Amino acid sequence: MLFKNKKKEELRVDESLSHIAFIMDGNGRWAKARALPRRMGHRQGAIAFEKIVRECSKIGIKTVTVYAFSTENWKRPKEEIDAIMELLSNYIDRAEDEKGTRYVFLGDKSVLNEDLRIRMEKLERESVDREYTLNIAFNYGGRAELVTAFNELASLGKTSITENDISEHLYTRDSKDPDLIVRTANECRISNFLLWQCAYSEFYFTDVLWPDFDERELHKAVKSFYKRKRNFGGI
Ligand code: IPE
Ligand code: IPE
Ligand code: MG
Repeated sequence: MLFKNKKKEELRVDESLSHIAFIMDGNGRWAKARALPRRMGHRQGAIAFEKIVRECSKIGIKTVTVYAFSTENWKRPKEEIDAIMELLSNYIDRAEDEKGTRYVFLGDKSVLNEDLRIRMEKLERESVDREYTLNIAFNYGGRAELVTAFNELASLGKTSITENDISEHLYTRDSKDPDLIVRTANECRISNFLLWQCAYSEFYFTDVLWPDFDERELHKAVKSFYKRKRNFGGI
């Protein structure tokens, strides 16, 4: 059920929508439309991200996952990659003061700058007991995640693998599968995001570019979710 206070447009979700994932796309196009460098689009995207994470918590979402940097994004110019790394580093500074959120980084941290990696791991450790979970997919690829999981299972000597075994060896092992996946910027593809976990997720695509995605747009996505009928293969 969706609780809505008509006067104030106050939205509350229930347990049927506990996890939302976002493919935050369109930062580059947002900058281009303003004749700004792409890094300015990422900067504005980071502001939108913090706003949406706060609003999700406010409406009762338990877990948010954001796609911040993919295993394929290394193909981009060094200047752009450096700008994204700096935004993450600055965000971690602020996140250290945010005492209500559990932070989990999904992806391979081993190739990142050592100082950044250490701070990511520290934030994960120190926030582990908190309830509202923010998964940040950074240097994340769904295929790489599955390969890592299979290799871990192989190294444990597993010869017969169950679906549960795989789920428990993914970066998302502590989160349930996303109920809703939102992708902005008019692209209708998965781009190597949560390939295993999206088996029965609902999808919401919008033309809005990520830096313009605000509370109102989030509410639209949530309302759209509540109009869907999820069958999970049943009738
Ligand atoms: C998404 O925005 C952010 C990252 C992939 C890091 P883009 O940078 O892909 O923006 P567009 O798709 O070029 O507009
Ligand atoms: C997906 O966006 C990755 C992130 C949002 C971090 P991309 O912009 O990299 O995806 P493609 O290349 O258009 O599929
Ligand atoms: Mg893009």
